[in-house]
Amino acid sequence: MTLFEAYQEGLKLLKNPKNDEINIRSLLCENNNLKSMSDFYLHKNENIKDLQRFNRELHRFLSGEPVQYITGKASFFGDDFIVSNDVLIPRNETEEVVDYAIKKIKEKFGSKNISISDVCAGSGCIGCELFLHSNVDHVFFSDISDKAIAIAKQNAEKLGVKGSFYVADGLDYLNQSVDVVISNPPYILKKEDVDQSVLDFEPNLALFTDEDLTIYRKITKKAVEFGVPLIIFEIGYDIKGKLEKIFKEIAPNYSLEFKKDINDKFRICSLSKID
Ligand SMILES: C[S@@+](CC[C@H](N)C(=O)[O-])C[C@H]1O[C@@H](n2cnc3c(N)ncnc32)[C@H](O)[C@@H]1O
Repeated sequence: MTLFEAYQEGLKLLKNPKNDEINIRSLLCENNNLKSMSDFYLHKNENIKDLQRFNRELHRFLSGEPVQYITGKASFFGDDFIVSNDVLIPRNETEEVVDYAIKKIKEKFGSKNISISDVCAGSGCIGCELFLHSNVDHVFFSDISDKAIAIAKQNAEKLGVKGSFYVADGLDYLNQSVDVVISNPPYILKKEDVDQSVLDFEPNLALFTDEDLTIYRKITKKAVEFGVPLIIFEIGYDIKGKLEKIFKEIAPNYSLEFKKDINDKFRICSLSKID
């Protein structure tokens, strides 16, 4: 069977072929070791390498499993990251956070080399991309999950990112200041806000927080104690009001900025130390 025939067979089984055809191509590209999705059309008349594997993976996909967990990789900010179901699949919203952070870092530090702490690192996507796209020369990656931090380490090694790795609650491991603390912590309050496939397959630890937003409080408190000049968070669309109160209380000598994402939802927040 050729790749194209397998693709057509796969399409027939999809509930939503318009949205999901790209995922079938992704499974087939992995199967035949094609580097890029655009190679699919160039190689579409080649025989599929392992039809049984494709059928197994297609079945997993049809049962709701995200294609990134099946192929073991997710694209983020132009790079492929290793993922497993121990880490959140990096999201487009987080690419916006990285983009914002690159600009903020340039504004605040100019051409100075800096160190950053990527707290709640998961796959390590934020820290890795800031290393690759700004003048960051060391990333402290940390996560409460040892399995997640092992994946962050693999990604950093694969992408040539210089870093150190800690299994820790928030910033508990930190014993020296860094120039920037950045974090995309779990921030969902209500299960109803989450798609079933996310609930079924992505780690709960990466998704949900408590009403007091303890994780934001803890990270900010410790960063403020150390006088970290710039703190950047990804935030949930519905927690801006709560966070404003928390930050005004525990970081009074920082200026606060909230930014919306392309879907017009508050998604990014930064605290910049007033000199
Ligand atoms: C929303 S995911 C973000 C992952 C990655 N930074 C990204 O943007 O794709 C949150 C991560 O925080 C970790 N986490 C949850 N509670 C934590 C805590 N108290 N301290 C440190 N990490 C925590 C989870 O294991 C998960 O990897």
